[in-house]
Parts: sequence; structure tokens; C-alpha cells
Amino acid sequence: MGGSMPDDFERMWSDLAPLGRSSVSGGYFRQPFTGVDGELRSWFIAQAGRRGLAVEADGFGNLVAWWRPDRGADRRGVLTGSHLDSVLDGGAYDGPLGVVSALAAVDVLRSRGFVPSRPIGVSVFAEEEGSRFGLACLGSRLATGALSWDAARSLRDRDGVSLEDALAASSGLGLELELGPSGGWLGGGAAAPSLRERVECFVELHVEQGRDLVDRGAAVGVASEIWPHGRYRFDFTGSANHAGTTRMEDRRDPMLTYAMTALAANEQARAAGQRATFGRLEVAPNGTNAIPSRVTAWLDARGSTDGALADLVDAIVGQATDRAGRDGTSLEVTPESVTGAVVFDPALATRLAADHEGGDWPVIPTMAGHDAGILSAAGIPTAMLFVRNPTGVSHSPEEHAEIADCLVGVSALADTLERLAR
Ligand code: GLV
Ligand code: MN
Ligand code: MN
Repeated sequence: MGGSMPDDFERMWSDLAPLGRSSVSGGYFRQPFTGVDGELRSWFIAQAGRRGLAVEADGFGNLVAWWRPDRGADRRGVLTGSHLDSVLDGGAYDGPLGVVSALAAVDVLRSRGFVPSRPIGVSVFAEEEGSRFGLACLGSRLATGALSWDAARSLRDRDGVSLEDALAASSGLGLELELGPSGGWLGGGAAAPSLRERVECFVELHVEQGRDLVDRGAAVGVASEIWPHGRYRFDFTGSANHAGTTRMEDRRDPMLTYAMTALAANEQARAAGQRATFGRLEVAPNGTNAIPSRVTAWLDARGSTDGALADLVDAIVGQATDRAGRDGTSLEVTPESVTGAVVFDPALATRLAADHEGGDWPVIPTMAGHDAGILSAAGIPTAMLFVRNPTGVSHSPEEHAEIADCLVGVSALADTLERLAR
């Protein structure tokens, strides 16, 4: 590898900067199995090629580039990496920072003359955000067997395209290495080794999505836990009618039931110290001069414990149901993506956080979901490193991390991989 490590990081970062960026908002639209996803994958495969890493793919859109896949008696590797997809109009860092930092960390380890005693893999998990098929961490759920292909194949995007068809249509988008949904090293096809058989432990570096590290004056931290969280579809049904001629007392207006539900969610979450958000809405027929017949709204709810999350959702659904009774509307609630509490291996977190120049790294919780949570729940010892985000803003074009902090993150990841693959 020519070039110094900061150069390589910054070059990779600027290669990725234009891919999927909106010229209107400056945010990113990097949805899975689309043209831009193909460009991101091609970029990753080229970066792996430059480094002589061996790229493997499963049938689900997940990629891993291995450094020294031949090392170790059982060849079980230390996996790092993250995802390249974004939320709609997302930031540059959520996901790509972990992938770029992982490639840069391999460069750092090589420049240190480090020879790993076991393989080190840089992973790119597909559809982490669930922005297209509605299920967060889709790729890692499939790779670990937390979700079966049979359950996933018929998931549909907003245009009605199934996951199966989207995957089939994505050959030529950097997915040429795919083996198809029934095979693949991660996917557990008949002869394929499972993720657990290939991976000894996983470390995901991620931009912090809050201000904990700012408050603590630290550039990097280690994750302790992920709050339980879920997405729930609320289908409110009423009766379409004329906006002018229908008397107010004669209406069955699902928008009213929805509006009160959004207020109730906010109130319940505040009172309980939890989080609740309605960020997506579909209205039919969506006309200005007609009472809607149907409103579909998606609740994102997060709680400090599984019980707190269940109580929060129950309270919101309870208020929504009462209100529907008064409005003459009906309500159906469908959980679409629910992830239980994740406590990362405490011994691993403590070990990784301890004994650094300048003191121990802080160990902090997060309310955001990650592939690391899925791998951890699958029994793989897992850790996360966070890089300071000056404003804490995320899932927005405003998301940011300073280059100097990103470089501290790269060397923190290199130190971590060195500890794990020594
Ligand atoms: C993923 O970033 C999530 O927490 O929704
Ligand atoms: Mn995210
Ligand atoms: Mn992420």
C-alpha cells in the first residue's frame, strides 16, 4: 500500500462522498439493491482488491473482505465493518464510517508490521437501516439465521417489489459474487458454514448518534448496550367523504385518530423517559378536499428495557384504540421490526476500553440499532466503538464527525483488532 494512513482514509472518504448524495439537501439516499448500492459495492470490492483481500458474498447482499483467510487452526476470524446503506436523506457517517475505518485499520496494522494470528474480515451488511424493506438489520438477521429466507423473501418495498425480486435484479450491481439465496458462506445453505462457524468475534465502529462523548470530552468510546426498539405499523381506517358538505359530527376521520395517537405517543414517551416517534405517514387518497379513508403511520418506539418498551407500546395502542372508538374509525397495529435488549459482552467491552494512552475509553449505551446487536444476540462476542459526533445529530444530512476524531477512531479500531487477533 502506498500513501500514509490519513491520506488513505481521506481518499476513501472523498471517493464515497458523491455516491447517492442529494444535490437538494446534501443528504444521502443509499437504498439497498439499487444502482447507487451497486456503485457502493463496486467501490468496496475495488478497495478490497487494492489491498489483496479476498471478497466473499452470501446470497443476501452481505459482503466480507478477508485479510489472511488462511490464518489460525480453525480459521475463525475477527470480523469488523458496518453497512453502506443509509436512511432516506441520511448522513454520510452512519455505516460508511465503520467500513472505511475498517479498511484503514487494516492499512494501519500492516504499516505496524502486524501479522494476525487469525483472519480479519471487513464486512458490509445489507439493508441495515431497513429503509427499503422495513426490517432493520435485514442482512445481518439473514446471515445469523435470526430471520429465515422464507420469511424475508416476500418482504416488499414501497413500490411492491419483493426482496427476492430486488435481489434477483441486482446482479450487475456489484453483486456478481452472490451465490443465490440458498447458498453462501454466511447464509447457511446446505454445505455453507454459518456465520458463527466463521466468526470468532465482531467489532463495529460507528459514528456516535448522541452527545455522550462530547459531554465526556472523549473522541472514542465503547458500547455497553443497545436499547430495545421496534417499528409498528398503525393502520387507521375511516370513511372518505366530502370536506365541505360533511358535518363535523358526521365524520369518521382516521387522520384525527392518527393525530391524537401521535400526541399520545409523545406524551407517553416523555412521561416514561423513553422514546416514541411517528416519522412516516401514508394517507389515502391524500386529497386536500376529502376526508381520508385510511391513514397508515409507522411508530418507532424505544425503551430502556424490554418491559419498558412493551409498556410504552401498550399505552400508545391503548390510547389510540380508545380514540378510534370515539372517532368511529378502526385501528390495526402490526409489529414490523422488533429488536430486544442487547447487552454487549461486558468483559470484552471492559478489556477493549482499558489501558490506553490518555486513559480508559468511556463505556456508553446507545438507543440506536446496529448489526452488532444482531450478531451479539446470535451468540457472537461483539463490541462497538463510537466516534464522537460534535452535535449528536444523526439520520440527517447534518450528521458529522471531525476528520481528526475519525482518525483517532481508525487507530482505536486498529488497536482493538490487534488485541483480538494477536
Ligand atoms: C438504526 O440506525 C436505527 O436505530 O434505527
Ligand atoms: Mn442508522
Ligand atoms: Mn448504522
